[in-house]
This record gives sequence, C-alpha cells and structure tokens, in this order.
Amino acid sequence: MADQRLTKFRELRERSLLGGGQSAIDKQHQSGKYTARERIDKFLDKGTFNELGALAQHTKIDFDMDKKKFPGDGVVTGFGEVNGRAVGVFAQDFTILGGSFSAVQAQKINKIQDLCLEVGIPCIGLNDSGGARVQEGVYSLAAYGEVFCRNVLASGVIPQISVIMGPCAGGAVYSPALTDLTVMVDGTSYMFLTGPGVVKSVTGEDVTQEELGGSTVHTQRSGVAQFRAADDDAAIELVKKILGYLPQNNNEDTPFVPTKDSPTRMDENLNEIIPDDDNKAYDLIDLLGRIFDTGSILQIQEEYARNAVVAFARLDGRAVGIVANNPGFMSGVLDIDSSDKISRFCRLCDAYNLPIITFVDCPGYLPGTQQEYGGVIRHGAKIIYGYTEATVPKICVVTRKATGGAYVALSSKQMRNDVVFAWPSGQVAVMGAAGAAPLVRGKEIKAAADPKAALAAFVEEYRETFLNPYRAADIGQVDEVIEPKETRPRLIQMLQVLQTKVQASPNKKHGIFPS
Ligand code: HXC
Repeated sequence: MADQRLTKFRELRERSLLGGGQSAIDKQHQSGKYTARERIDKFLDKGTFNELGALAQHTKIDFDMDKKKFPGDGVVTGFGEVNGRAVGVFAQDFTILGGSFSAVQAQKINKIQDLCLEVGIPCIGLNDSGGARVQEGVYSLAAYGEVFCRNVLASGVIPQISVIMGPCAGGAVYSPALTDLTVMVDGTSYMFLTGPGVVKSVTGEDVTQEELGGSTVHTQRSGVAQFRAADDDAAIELVKKILGYLPQNNNEDTPFVPTKDSPTRMDENLNEIIPDDDNKAYDLIDLLGRIFDTGSILQIQEEYARNAVVAFARLDGRAVGIVANNPGFMSGVLDIDSSDKISRFCRLCDAYNLPIITFVDCPGYLPGTQQEYGGVIRHGAKIIYGYTEATVPKICVVTRKATGGAYVALSSKQMRNDVVFAWPSGQVAVMGAAGAAPLVRGKEIKAAADPKAALAAFVEEYRETFLNPYRAADIGQVDEVIEPKETRPRLIQMLQVLQTKVQASPNKKHGIFPS
C-alpha cells in the first residue's frame, strides 16, 4: 500500500516535471526559449532549488477546464541560492496553457512573495505568459491584483527583478512594471497590454509583436524595461550580475566584492580628458571607467535617454550608484526622459543603500514647446525630489558645466548633497556666456561701434568671472576643487567617512512625487 502511494506520488511528480507535455516543450525550444524548469536550473546555484507547489492544480470546470489540468498549473515556484545568497523565484511555464495566469498561479507566486518579504530576500520573476487565463474570468483578474498588491508593498524593501522571457500580455506586464528592474530577451520577449490581433480589431492598426512591444521598443523608446539580453542564457547571467550590486533587503549593506584595483590609484589621463572647447564632447564612459573599480560599471537603461548615464559600479569593493550627464548625446541636457531616468535611479539607490555619486556636465533643462507640452516641469521636478528625498551618502563632482537648473537639481548642497567636489574645468553659473550677454550687456553691445568685439569682450569677462568653480568654492557651494586624477581616492576616502551617515526627514505617510 505504502509502495502504491509512493508510486502514485512519483508519477505525479514526473508529470509535473513535464509541464504541458513533450510536444509543447519541443515548441518552446524551437522558438529559442528554455522551459521554466530549465531557466530556474540555470539561474540557481546547483542543487539549491527547493520547490513549493509543484503539484497544485486549478479546480475550474468552465469551458472544459476540468480536462485541462496540469500539476503546477503553469508556474514553477520556490527558493534557492544565487552565488550563495538566498532568493525566491517563480518561472511561468508557457507550455501549460500559454503560461496564462490563474488563481492557483497567484497563490503559488504570493507564497513566494510573502516569504521573501518576511525573511528579507530578493524575489525574481521569470515571466512568460499570455496574461489573465480567460477561462477563469474574474478569478484570474483578482489573482493579478494579489500579485500587484504584494509588488507594491515589497517595493523598496526587497529587490524585485522581472525577466521577460516570452510574450507577456495584459496583466502579465503590470507586475514587472511595479518591480525594481526589468530585463527583456531580444527576439523572443514582448510586453504589451494586448497583442497585435486585439490592436487590429480595436484601432485598425497593423503591427507586429516586435513593433508593438519588443525588447528594443521598451529599452530604447518607452523606458518600460531597463535591460535587454541576447537570449535566455544572457538574461539569466545578467540578473545574477545585477543581484551582486544589491543588498538582500533595505536593512542590509550592499555586498562587498574584493577588488585588486588600488583605492589610491590616480589616473593622469583624467587631467587631460575635458577638452578646451566647452562645446566639445568627450567619452563619458571612459572617464567613469578611470575612476571606479576596474570593470565594475553596469549601465541601467543604457539605450534610453542617452543624455544621462545611470549605472551601478563599485568603489573599493562597495556598490554605488552613478548619475552622470553625457556630453556625447544632446550635450548632456536634461529633458523629460532623462529626468525620469535619473529620478527613478536615485530612488532605487536610496531604497537599497547605494551611495549616489553624481558627475555634472550639463547645460541645464531643454527648452521648447515639445518639452513644455510633455510636462518637462513636472518631470524635471522629479530630479529635485529624488535627490532631496535620498538620505544615502551623496557626493557630487562638477566636471564641467553646472548651469542653472542643472546646478541646483543635480549638484547643489541644497539637494542635501553631502560633499561637492569640482574639477578646475568646472563652471557653476546661472547660464552660459551667450545666453547671459543680451541680459547683462544687451544694450551696450548693440550700441558699440563694433558689436562683435563688444560681445567677445563680454564673453571673456563672463568666463573669467563665472565660468569656473572658484566663486562657488568661495561660498562653500563647492567644498573642494580637486585635480581630476585625484577623484578616485577622494571619493573612496569620503565614502568611508560617510558610510555611517544618518539623516532624518520629516515624519510623513509619504510625499506626493511629481509624476
Ligand atoms: C488562456 C491562453 C491565453 C490566455 C494564451 N493561451 N493566452 N489561454 N488565456 N490569456 C493559450 C492559447 O490558447 C494556446 O493554447 C497556448 O496558450 C499558446 O498560445 P498561442 O497563441 O498558441 O501562442 P503564440 O502564438 O506564441 O501567441 C502567444 C500570445 C497569444 C501572443 C500571448 O496567445 C495571445 O495573444 N494571447 C492573449 C493575450 C492577451 O490579450 N492577454 C490579455 C488577457 S487580459 P493551446 O491549447 O492552443 O495550446 C488581461 C487583463 C488583466 O490580462 C488586467 C490586469 C490589470
């Protein structure tokens, strides 16, 4: 008898390992994707997967659903380790009813979400789903609500990362949008509210899945996803890498990764990197690479709003966040998209205890109707909000232009920056010389015998007076002017001082973020 029970159990378990069956698995492989179990196997350290809910099945009967039951019901859930650190994980199984979302799926995912939050470990979702399971009606909608609610409650407490590894439609896209970071796989993953068929019937628009919600759409245009990877393997490796910069929860320090890069290393090339011509660009990534631990920079939203760079990196082994204006793209100006990019990243760093290091070379906010109609005021305000709200150590380096709004929003003491360094090439001013000329000496220049020469003389005078870091240093708005080559050791020393920083903010339920 005991043997029969064991045999039955083993059969059930065997079935659960097969998902939607061999032909569905073959189809999954043919489309260049791994199955849910294969993904988990590659993601977790060998032998650490502890599965829960493997045999759970739905109990629905509408539309012949009683004949479509599969152990596990389209999602594989459990706990394991990534590089020796505990994580919770769920992987939707497209081979079972297209990974469509059911009440049982939600119960299984909720279990993982709840335990991750209670024990303080990251929760990783590997998504591959056709959205709400139509045959379950409102059960499926309510089930999504249960996941979303937990996403929101866990936000900023434990890292939540979503990997999109197949078509994710309808409700399947909102949970990723509520998590901290989303990774998409090129060519096989899509995110959209409804697929091309429904789009055609509602709007008459002909569009492919790729055009509607492929990985380039969301990493380059919409900003919905922060990363894309070439295939399932690369996406999984990327998530492991990302986890290496994050603490297990908001009460922990970020992980320490020993480095051979000396904390006192100085790079002479930095002294030459800023061109004499103020309007000339330079290679920002090269500049940053000379300061942070060798090979430690990981850009986030690399292809979106390229006028700003945000990245994880390490300084003497400790994870930090970098915000930098990129003079190589739109002169590093701030606009709607870069404001969203920077402010969200500041909040991410603040939530997970990553110090924020800002490199300022920015002519200010982008003017014009396109930006104004799009709400650059409220989007731009997010940067001010994000920096001021953040209580993690914050250090700013003014490398060149810190002009107008860019100075105030990005680098100023008033945004509760702890320390502001400036390079001798730094320029802290209300605006550039060309903009200032008509306001300060407009009439005189016009009336001059040689207006061109008068303008040139003004530019020279303005440059001498304001386009340097010394006026700001006089009044303590810049704490120290440093040689560019000293930047790495200065930052490391300062971070050591700031690592026990405690900063209070007024007690409140929450602020009203200018979104
Ligand atoms: C039930 C579903 C399903 C769903 C897919 N399937 N989506 N079953 N509910 N939502 C089933 C298919 O019937 C099929 O079953 C199997 O999964 C594989 O699907 P295919 O269509 O054959 O695969 P493919 O050609 O790769 O297309 C994948 C897809 C497409 C693009 C995801 O299936 C699709 O467009 N599905 C519907 C997407 C959608 O509009 N979802 C929104 C739901 S509303 P068989 O038995 O034939 O193998 C929603 C609202 C929530 O989610 C709102 C919360 C805020």
